[in-house]
Amino acid sequence: MNAATTAVPVIAIDGPSASGKGTIAEAVAKELGFHYLDSGSLYRLVALAAVKEATRLDDEAALARRALHLHATFEGGEIFLFGQKVTDAIRSEECGKGASRVAALPAVRAALLARQRAFREAPGLVAEGRDMGTVVFPDATLKVFLTASAEIRAERRYKQLKEKGIDANIRTLLLELRERDARDSARSVAPLQKAADARELDSTGLGIEDIVRQVLDWYRQRVAGSQHQ
Ligand code: C5P
Repeated sequence: MNAATTAVPVIAIDGPSASGKGTIAEAVAKELGFHYLDSGSLYRLVALAAVKEATRLDDEAALARRALHLHATFEGGEIFLFGQKVTDAIRSEECGKGASRVAALPAVRAALLARQRAFREAPGLVAEGRDMGTVVFPDATLKVFLTASAEIRAERRYKQLKEKGIDANIRTLLLELRERDARDSARSVAPLQKAADARELDSTGLGIEDIVRQVLDWYRQRVAGSQHQ
């Protein structure tokens, strides 16, 4: 990273599964005209590629090689893996589970680091995931840790799946969310945790617009504050 790159502002939004990070990050990016990074999609792509290629989800060296040479493109809201559209395929619960397993492997995380940092381009970036503020962009202008109760998150996931016509069971979703949270928080590398300098926002009971407004207010305060220093 050179000085010109690090001068590009980053808003890092981290939090557990289904906390609403994606929706919020996309809306904030749109409002500011910033780029957007959904870092979870990279782990999901590695998991999907592994399944397609019959690579075992504990073969760290093979998965890291795949992560390093992942031919993935993001175009107008669609995601392509080796030229094939996988936007919906990577959203399955199965792929989420696989992503959480490959994400626990240090060599896979290391292989995806440069790719994530390359999204940092002018005029700015909104990046969401689990370790945006702690590992990938430790110098982010604003760090937000977005939470919500597990019950609310399971309910949101249930509604999302129903809207897509996918059958789901709310109790199973809740159990899976708790399992995924436990694995993401307990892993030894880049565990899901609030950065010391992150602002925590509990979205339980808040509407999307309220959360977006809060993040934008915090960001503008940060920018105004740094200009007066
Ligand atoms: O955010 P999403 O549910 O798409 O992420 C899928 C999985 O990828 C998460 O459960 C987590 O294990 C992993 N992940 C991660 N670090 C990130 C983003 C996602 O470990 N920055």
